[in-house]
Amino acid sequence: MIIEPLPGANFGVLARFPDAADAAAKIAVAEAKRDALLDAFYQARGLMVMPGMAAITDQPGLLVRLSRLFGPDVENYHQTLTVKTKLHASVAEILVVSNMAPANQMPPSQPDPPRTADGGLPVQFPQRRGWHTDQSFRRPPPDVALFYCVKPAPMGQGQTLYADGAGAYEALPPALKARTVGLEGYHVTPGTGRSETAVRAGDTPRPLLPHQRPQRQPVVRIHPVTGQPALYLCEAGQMDWIEGPLVDMASGPDGDGAALLYDLMSHFTQPQFTYTHDWDQGDIVIYDNRSTIHAATWFDADAHDRLMWRTTVTGNPGRAYAGEKPSWIPEDGTRPSDGLEDLD
Ligand SMILES: [Fe+2]
Repeated sequence: MIIEPLPGANFGVLARFPDAADAAAKIAVAEAKRDALLDAFYQARGLMVMPGMAAITDQPGLLVRLSRLFGPDVENYHQTLTVKTKLHASVAEILVVSNMAPANQMPPSQPDPPRTADGGLPVQFPQRRGWHTDQSFRRPPPDVALFYCVKPAPMGQGQTLYADGAGAYEALPPALKARTVGLEGYHVTPGTGRSETAVRAGDTPRPLLPHQRPQRQPVVRIHPVTGQPALYLCEAGQMDWIEGPLVDMASGPDGDGAALLYDLMSHFTQPQFTYTHDWDQGDIVIYDNRSTIHAATWFDADAHDRLMWRTTVTGNPGRAYAGEKPSWIPEDGTRPSDGLEDLD
C-alpha cells in the first residue's frame, strides 16, 4: 500500500496498491493495514482517493466490505430517509446516484457564469452552488462515505468537488471565527420547499412528518477521532431558510443568519481549501462527512449516462450526539421516507 499526497489539493491522500491484482486483493491489503490506512485518512483531514477498483462493478459487496473498515456500521438505505428509486437492486447498503432510470437524477445546472474569470471550473460559493455534507438533515448525522464510479461522465464533466472543513476553520479570520462559537444551523432535506431559492420564489413548503423536520447541527464540529474542529454547514439548498438558516439569528433570505452563512460558505469554498475530482471508471473517493463538504458539477445528461454508487458509514458522530436516538425513525413504524418519494 502506497499513500501519497493528493495532487491538486492541500488536503487528502491517494492510496494505491501496486502489487494487488484487483479490487478484492487491494481490499485484503487495506484490511491487513487498516490502522495505517485510517491514520493516513485522518491525517489528511478526511479525504482519500483509491483508484483501480473497477472489479467492484461485478462484485458490489466488496464496496460494503471496504466501507466496514471506516466505522462501526454501514447504513442500510432501506431504513433511512432514502427514496426507493435510489436503492441498489440487490445490496441494501448501496445508494445509486445516476441520471439513468430508475434514479433519473439530473445533474446540477452550470454555474452562472459557467467559468471563472481565468477560465477555470468555478468552485467557490455562491458562484458554485450545491455544497453540502451528506444527510446533515438527520441527527446523528453520518460519518464517512465511499463514492464509487461505475460509469463516469466524459472527462471535464460530472466532477465532484470537495472542501476541507478543518483547514477552512483554522484559517477563518478571527472576527468571523468568533461568530461561530456556539453557533448552530438548521439543516433540512433538499427539495422540501425550505431552500433559499424556494423561499425567495414564495413556494409553499411541503408538510413534513416529525422525523423529517429540520435538524439543528453545530456550525463547528469537533472530530471524534482527531479532536480537530471543522466547519460543518451546507449552502442554500440543504439549510432551512424558513426557521434559519442559523439558530437564534434573524431568519429568512435577507436576515443576519443568511448574511453570515454566505460569509462562512464563501470562505469555506475558496480554491485553496478545495479539491476537484475528475472521475475514472473504478475510482473510489472516501470522504469524511464530519469534516468535509462536497458538490456535484454539471454533465451533459442528455448525451451521456453516469452511474455512481455510494455507501455511508455511521456510528461515531462524536460527543455532541452521545446517547441520541436517530431522528429519522418514525414513532409509528412507517418507512422513514414515506411522503418524500418524488424528491430528487
Ligand atoms: Fe452528497
